[in-house]
Amino acid sequence: MSKKSRSYVRFPLARRIEHLTMLLSFSTLGVTGLVQKYAASGLSIAIVNLVGGIENLRAIHHVAAIVMMFGTMYHILLAGYHVFVKRSRLSMLPALQDIKDGWQALMYNFGLAKSYPQMGRYTFEEKLEYWAFVWGTIVMGLTGFMMWNPVTTAHILPGEFIPAAKAAHGGEALLAVLAIIVWHMYVVHIRRFNKSIWTGKFTEAEMLHEHPLELADIKAGIAEPRLDPKTLRKRRKVYYPVAGILTVVMLVGVNSFVSGEKTAITTVLPISSPVPIYLPQTPTPSPTAQPTPTSGAVVLTWDGSLGPLFQTKCGACHGTTVKLAQLSFATYADTLKGGQDGVIILPGEASGSSLIQKQQAGGHPGQFSAEELGLVSQWIAAGAPEK
Ligand code: HEC
Repeated sequence: MSKKSRSYVRFPLARRIEHLTMLLSFSTLGVTGLVQKYAASGLSIAIVNLVGGIENLRAIHHVAAIVMMFGTMYHILLAGYHVFVKRSRLSMLPALQDIKDGWQALMYNFGLAKSYPQMGRYTFEEKLEYWAFVWGTIVMGLTGFMMWNPVTTAHILPGEFIPAAKAAHGGEALLAVLAIIVWHMYVVHIRRFNKSIWTGKFTEAEMLHEHPLELADIKAGIAEPRLDPKTLRKRRKVYYPVAGILTVVMLVGVNSFVSGEKTAITTVLPISSPVPIYLPQTPTPSPTAQPTPTSGAVVLTWDGSLGPLFQTKCGACHGTTVKLAQLSFATYADTLKGGQDGVIILPGEASGSSLIQKQQAGGHPGQFSAEELGLVSQWIAAGAPEK
């Protein structure tokens, strides 16, 4: 074979950009997602601090999710174009032959088959990865929606689905990241360094080695259906409006996904929370003792302590709103004026005051304690001063 062998276009620029977009959004989602799944680990805390806090990390995760949504939209529209306009071969569809190929490859690796399977445009490994990605995107999209829009979800499904969605989102994420690290890395980097997703090209030798059946079809001129420009134009005329409507529907979907609610469930960091939630940093101060009428410092005047005492003990029935027996203790003047039977306090004469007599007799709906009555007597004996 000559050194200047022909090269074959495997991935046009648009597909390479698509791959790069998915690579970047997937990696960002993986890192920012696993940090939230394992929020207590030291590495997670370091990453959260690096991006300036959990809210920033969540924002990055959401932006990467939106990028992936747009990537998926683009992929759907492009797949539609290939199926309906170009009528390309559905080379990514799984077939029985893939199972046979997989089996033969396994046997070959064990030394039990003479040759490695000859495969076409997409090998069974590539198909497996592609459909795993499709499946993963569906699971992550649905469960992501449920976490981003828990109120809407709870209208449709029982509330238990929201924590279940969170568990599934994290589990599927781990599976996807590990699949990329183990499977994808091995197939395209370790087994043979496959640069075609970056260069877009394969040499003839590489084609012969990796996709011999496709190479045969290309050489036979049957790899892609021949298209005459007229039918192509006719099909585009149908497809473009349909794709346009589909685009609008998808954009509306993405918009309600992203901004339908402001109630997305959050990640609470168990360790790096700056303020302990349940442990008060300063002990609650114990209440300072209120001065009571018995304490020596209290001045026996109406304004000082007697007024408040009468109002709390007797105010419910003898006040401005309720004034039983025409008696009110609301003010000093009211108190000295007395009730329906005249004055009840004779300043300087405690035992002669009917208030004291009535209270000493007991049985009144409102009663002073013996201690309080002693104070009231002292106050009256002292001339019942106002100030
Ligand atoms: C649950 C309502 C109620 C409370 C509380 C109450 N009283 Fe009376 N008080 C009455 C009623 C009813 C009368 C009229 C019947 C009577 O004289 O027993 C009255 C009458 C009086 C009279 C007689 C007034 C007059 O001119 O005939 C005095 C004095 C009096 N109360 C003092 C007090 C004092 C002091 C307190 C607070 C320690 C107090 N009362 C709390 C219901 C209450």
